[in-house]
Amino acid sequence: MAEFKLPANSTYKMGKVWKAESSATNIKIFRIYRWNEDDGQNPVIMTYEVDLDKCGPMVLDALIKIKNEIDPTLTFRRSCREGVCGSCAMNIGGLNTLACTKAIKDYKGDVAIYPLPHMDVVKDLIPDMSHFYAQYASIKPWMQTQTPVPSGKERLQSVGERKKLDGLYECILCACCSTSCPSYWWNSDKYLGPAVLLQAYRWLVDSRDENTGERLDDLEDPFRLYRCHTIMNCANTCPKGLNPAKAIAEIKKMMIERQG
Ligand code: SF4
Ligand code: SF4
Ligand code: FES
Repeated sequence: MAEFKLPANSTYKMGKVWKAESSATNIKIFRIYRWNEDDGQNPVIMTYEVDLDKCGPMVLDALIKIKNEIDPTLTFRRSCREGVCGSCAMNIGGLNTLACTKAIKDYKGDVAIYPLPHMDVVKDLIPDMSHFYAQYASIKPWMQTQTPVPSGKERLQSVGERKKLDGLYECILCACCSTSCPSYWWNSDKYLGPAVLLQAYRWLVDSRDENTGERLDDLEDPFRLYRCHTIMNCANTCPKGLNPAKAIAEIKKMMIERQG
């Protein structure tokens, strides 16, 4: 096994090493952040040897195998296992991404897995998403209208109006982008961050929504919107290939345009 060392100033310690069966010939090493508030200890990095000949192809498969067959105390979130629910978001090999859509074979050497950065940790790989969801709720992510539904049935969109939602509606609120954004790291108490702003823009450009002015008023604030400095980490990390920085730039443009 190649020697793995934490940085000298790290407060983490290397924890237990879980060896694979001696008959295993195709071993991959996973270095996984572990922390449990209940034991009162500092975080440790545990090492798990996984026999890839008896494991599915994705990083999430390895985590599930570790939990089912090696160490049932390992804690992480997952649901859909196909990049739709966003719950398996974590930092893998230094990048925020989804464990279920990342192939193990794409990682050279050991695979380091940490929770999403700069979030409080509930346990192991589970970040506390409460503040993120409260920020999402604050943009009122639902259609707001005053006029009655035309002909009492439904609000139609033209093909062009519907197309404006492409690149926005696909967001799965995984928070990979917000937790990779330095502005969000330092100001998440006030700055909404790329994920929530992309969602805000999704409602601003929806032709059926009738509260555009009020939505813009809510964002007109030195912190909620204007902490984005176009560093672009968000677009580089989004596992769905979306571009929150562009959505933020479009909101800023709408702000300028309405001032005439
Ligand atoms: S924009 Fe991308 S990275 Fe950000 S929350 Fe949505 S899907 Fe996740
Ligand atoms: S472009 Fe804006 S939102 Fe995206 S990472 Fe940079 S500062 Fe954050
Ligand atoms: S388990 Fe749903 S996105 Fe990974």
